[in-house]
Amino acid sequence: MKFLINSLLEIQNKHGYLPKDEMERISVEFNVPISRIYSIATFYNAFSLKPVGKHVIHVCKGTACVMGGSGVFEDTLKQLGILDDEDFTYQPIRCFGACSLAPVVVIDGKVYGKMTVSRLKKMVPKLFEDKDKTSKGDEDAR
Ligand code: FES
Repeated sequence: MKFLINSLLEIQNKHGYLPKDEMERISVEFNVPISRIYSIATFYNAFSLKPVGKHVIHVCKGTACVMGGSGVFEDTLKQLGILDDEDFTYQPIRCFGACSLAPVVVIDGKVYGKMTVSRLKKMVPKLFEDKDKTSKGDEDAR
């Protein structure tokens, strides 16, 4: 027996997001209205409707994290140029479920608790370094 959510997860893992044509295919396959597919896709943080960048940054916007200072992290990322860089995808989340670590930021699946603006400013350029190394490696391979 095949489950709708598993099929969506397979598509998400294959493409890095849920392309519209794939969601339409799932709608037909499971005989479920496309609006239902969209509501599932937008409810769970595991799904994205847009292609994601090489690096994904989640900032928790739940109450404990905002009280701890996460409300300014988006501005920090803007200052660092992250929000304009297609290699980075910024996705705010409501509550990551790790409130004791607030404020929480998740970068490429790794959870960073007790985040501060200064830590964020140190970590994100490191991601840029990695990106530069990868790009250089690509150029060297040519
Ligand atoms: S409010 Fe941020 S992890 Fe719960």
